[in-house]
Amino acid sequence: MRMVDLIEKKRDGYELMTDEINFIISGYTDGSIPDYQVSALMMAIVFQGMTQRERADLTMAMVKSGDQIDLSQIEGIIVDKHSTGGVGDTTTLVLGPLVASVGVPVAKMSGRGLGHTGGTIDKLESVSGFHVEIDNAEFIDLVNRNKIAVIGQSGNLTPADKKLYALRDVTATVESIPLIASSIMSKKIAAGADAIVLDVKTGAGAFMKTLEDSRELAQAMVRIGNNVGRRTMAVISDMSQPLGFAIGNALEVKEAIDTLKGEGPEDLTELCLTLGSHMVYLANQASSLAEARSKLEAAIKDGSALEKLKDFLNSQGGDATIVDQPEKLPQAAYTFELEAKEDGYVAEIVADEVGTAAMILGAGRATKESVIDLAVGLVLRKKIGDQVHKGDSLVTIYSNFEDVSEVKQKLYDNIKITTEKIVPPILIHEAITE
Ligand code: URA
Ligand code: CA
Repeated sequence: MRMVDLIEKKRDGYELMTDEINFIISGYTDGSIPDYQVSALMMAIVFQGMTQRERADLTMAMVKSGDQIDLSQIEGIIVDKHSTGGVGDTTTLVLGPLVASVGVPVAKMSGRGLGHTGGTIDKLESVSGFHVEIDNAEFIDLVNRNKIAVIGQSGNLTPADKKLYALRDVTATVESIPLIASSIMSKKIAAGADAIVLDVKTGAGAFMKTLEDSRELAQAMVRIGNNVGRRTMAVISDMSQPLGFAIGNALEVKEAIDTLKGEGPEDLTELCLTLGSHMVYLANQASSLAEARSKLEAAIKDGSALEKLKDFLNSQGGDATIVDQPEKLPQAAYTFELEAKEDGYVAEIVADEVGTAAMILGAGRATKESVIDLAVGLVLRKKIGDQVHKGDSLVTIYSNFEDVSEVKQKLYDNIKITTEKIVPPILIHEAITE
């Protein structure tokens, strides 16, 4: 087989066969096929697309390029949740204990964040003593006993995707639905999920800015999952503004605790109940979505979701007393209010720019080497559609330095107030099961 023939085939709009896709991915992973040929093929795919069969084959070829996590010793159906990224997305912290409390096994492999705010591990590490350096045997044992555990990323997962994603980044070939969908799905499948719930974000702060593009990506991922034997569904949710109020590591842990108590922000609560219902349903722990939802609502009401969070923190060395005494979480030295300069309605909160403001405070990493400040961040006091009066606080800034003028300017530039009434955005657009 010659790579040049395969590039030509795709360039001319023909379908690549399974063995051809395997040849390309294994050759690229082991270095026998050079970057320039794979770049040409990626560009051909951007223009010609891929059939459903090709997408499933590409996904599985990338899964097989490295280690696959074996979770077969865990009892029950493991449902993983994946979000296509957002700002201040606290859903993982809420959903883990919430669905575990109704019997769904949560075996989460998580990473650290780059940009906006930390990843799930960074957030959890704001709980003193909590650690994710556990071995596989302990991880599996914890999930079987407690229904929930989080482990740090280890092993050599989807090396083909790492190499391809880096190449696509510098060859203007990221923007291809088949390539994005197989990239995301390969990572979920290699991490051992039996079933997958996808939270595909849409709007200004999302990777996909329009509903049409988000729907197309969601459908592509759902089809890949179902074609390779993993029950998969997607929810399309709004990211035209940050989710919830808190953006920052300890602040989001506090927000997750509030949400598990039933006192969280309305949008975060609703999205967690929606995604959680699908997870419970796919895990066969409820016979309908309505039953799944009422189980989750009951777990919040009777305190079992919150108890599960305590068990989980305890079992991985964390100080679970923070759940009842959140003031024990890392606290910033200073707080400042961002005061509205005029009367009106909040029209826009540009999510990624607000996320960048939190990063400037130290809540996120500008580079992989940056050290995160777990205490700092932002808490929104107003969301899109809210009425504001001059002098009202729009945002509370939690900082460990006294001069926050740059952060304030960035927030003023990206929180737009208008005089007309504004209709708040729809939170959940649709669910896609096929
Ligand atoms: N995120 C991924 O993981 N892969 C892509 O290709 C794009 C976004
Ligand atoms: Ca949040």
